[in-house]
Amino acid sequence: MTTRSATFPLTGTLAGHSVRRLGYGAMQLAGPNVFGPPKDRSEALAVLRAVIASGVNHIDTSDFYGPHVTNQLIREALHPYPDDLVIVTKVSARRGNDGSWIPAFSRGELTEAVHDNLRNLGLDVLEVVNLRSMFDVERPKEGSLEAPLTVLAELQHQGLIRHIGLSNVTPTQIAEGRRICEIVCVQNQYNLVHRADDDVIAALARDGIPYVPFFPLGGFTPLQSSILSDVARTLAATPMQVALAWLLRRAPNILLIPGTSSRLHLQENLAAAALNLPDDAITALDGISDRVPK
Ligand SMILES: NC(=O)c1ccc[n+]([C@@H]2O[C@H](COP(=O)([O-])OP(=O)(O)OC[C@H]3O[C@@H](n4cnc5c(N)ncnc54)[C@H](OP(=O)(O)O)[C@@H]3O)[C@@H](O)[C@H]2O)c1
Repeated sequence: MTTRSATFPLTGTLAGHSVRRLGYGAMQLAGPNVFGPPKDRSEALAVLRAVIASGVNHIDTSDFYGPHVTNQLIREALHPYPDDLVIVTKVSARRGNDGSWIPAFSRGELTEAVHDNLRNLGLDVLEVVNLRSMFDVERPKEGSLEAPLTVLAELQHQGLIRHIGLSNVTPTQIAEGRRICEIVCVQNQYNLVHRADDDVIAALARDGIPYVPFFPLGGFTPLQSSILSDVARTLAATPMQVALAWLLRRAPNILLIPGTSSRLHLQENLAAAALNLPDDAITALDGISDRVPK
């Protein structure tokens, strides 16, 4: 295999901050099914400290992870926060007693969620808050976000939020959102296999808006593919490293937030930034997709 000579940026811009393109998603720090306390609390705190020690300066979280657990761990491990750390949180859901995900879009619920995030993270202002669409919990579904976004914009004017992003959204909702307030990032599901947002990524790249894929490693069902495994073996890398390296090259506006509850996996994932993907590996990886051919 020949090594691709083209370089790719290791930093990107998020809400006016320079961030490493390899960030960290904190969802895996809560208990099983993102509910309750972690299985190994001291490892969860150690992972967060290792995130910062490794130079990561973009952490994705939410107060509905746990609920409250993940943000409280972040505060315990990292507060007072490094000046360059950008913490991105999200609102619009709450958790049932059984761990279910319940839409929480009303003015009162959104306001409460912002105050919960402030308190649990120990902050006076939230740097970036993503409004997560909940018309369908699993996937983007059309529906107007005007009312909840207007509430977030008001909280922004009150100084509780600096920047607003969107999550689990359709192109129509992104366009609607951008008419209401500045949208600084979009966080949707995307990875080697799940590529429904190819056109969304390209459109956001044209406008200089970061795209932050969630489930970059496949989420609750980690990616499995013989092509991915073969490429990884050839490069003496792991499949997860190859999956992340492919995303880093996929588009310059992609910022990564792979999640893990283990320091070993964290270091493995961060090393993906140094992995060279030869052209023929990229061609093979591009073929792994659930996209319906156009
Ligand atoms: N906006 C939204 O709706 C939304 C939805 C889901 C997630 N998110 C955000 O996106 C972030 C990333 O998503 P995610 O954490 O759900 O999924 P992910 O990053 O795709 O994958 C995490 C899973 O992969 C495993 N893993 C991580 N590194 C690994 C490695 N090197 N080798 C083997 N397994 C590895 C983790 O297990 P271990 O813990 O054992 O490493 C975990 O089971 C979340 O943390 C969260 O911040 C947002």
